[in-house]
Amino acid sequence: MITKLAKADDSLIDEAAKILKDGGVVAIPTETVYGLAANALDVEAVRSVFRAKGRPQDNPLILHIGSVDMLYDIAETVNPLALKLAEAFWPGPLTMIFPRKPHIPAETCGGLDTAAVRMPKNNFTLKLIEKCGFPLAAPSANTSGKPSPTSAVHVFDDMNSKIPLIADGGDCRFGVESTVICFDSNERVRILRPGAVTPEMLLEFCDTVIDSGVLEKIKPDVKVISPGMKYKHYSPEAEVFILMGESDCVERFLSSQNAENIGFLGHGDEKLPESVMRFPYGKSSEVQAENLFASLRKADEYGCKTVYVRMPETVGMGLAVYNRLLRAAGFRVIDAGDGEDNAV
Ligand code: TXA
Ligand code: MG
Repeated sequence: MITKLAKADDSLIDEAAKILKDGGVVAIPTETVYGLAANALDVEAVRSVFRAKGRPQDNPLILHIGSVDMLYDIAETVNPLALKLAEAFWPGPLTMIFPRKPHIPAETCGGLDTAAVRMPKNNFTLKLIEKCGFPLAAPSANTSGKPSPTSAVHVFDDMNSKIPLIADGGDCRFGVESTVICFDSNERVRILRPGAVTPEMLLEFCDTVIDSGVLEKIKPDVKVISPGMKYKHYSPEAEVFILMGESDCVERFLSSQNAENIGFLGHGDEKLPESVMRFPYGKSSEVQAENLFASLRKADEYGCKTVYVRMPETVGMGLAVYNRLLRAAGFRVIDAGDGEDNAV
């Protein structure tokens, strides 16, 4: 199959909508990462998404909607808190989990009786959903296990010859996937995956708990609310380690490494030995989120065998960066002060 890469503007909507209506798959831009979209109500189309990604069947997809009306076609019940959060954060990077109506295919939802729903903040994609008239099931448009794509070229690298069309909407604004929440009650939400809608932002509306799976490794036999938590994720070919400590310790640690092909994602002002390749990362959590996946992909392109990434903050957007990094690093955190490898 030939994969066409075309600018995501109004003139592409009819073509993209036709592919989707015919049961095909289109990569779409969103404000978080690119998605691999298909008609969420068409079981065969959804199967094509799982195939293109190599995604385990039990890992459910997010349904992307273009209006709150569409939510009522998907969710069996919508509690008042969900409506308040939709009003505050949609369109935007918040995914909410609802009991699903029977006509939503089990395949789309990984066999669960719930559906995850979000309204993305991207004009092209919103217009496309409106044109289609059905929700778009769209996981991140990477090969399963790889870093999520934050540009159309990343999607092309993973999906070339597997899908007919990639709509190029430029670089994604946030760079990490949406915040995923479910409702413990009408007053409390549980964060299953942190994102740009931060715990601090949610706290303005309700009590918030961070699920233990966000920062801890899930044991293989434990049942989790969000199946995505179980799987290896966001990993480049290189081995990734999180490096904890102040700049001077980080500099000393890197100078003492004599391996070849070392990559480093840091604040930008560390003094590095010549042998270490630096990739964009940054100091603020927002900038780190924007750069993280692209830099992990770049490190592979440059042939890095090992990549050290400075420990992010663990609040605000930093929690999302830390959550992705822990998975990319297989939960390995090195203390640059003593060089100890601490699996968390
Ligand atoms: O920002 C995003 O959310 C991007 C863009 C494309 O919208 N999408 C994305 O999808 O990240 P994906 O499939 O890569 O991640 C969806 C996550 C997975 O961890 C999955 O397990 C969880 O959401 N999820 C989906 N439906 C669920 C459900 N019914 N119950 C619990 N978790 C669910
Ligand atoms: Mg994903």
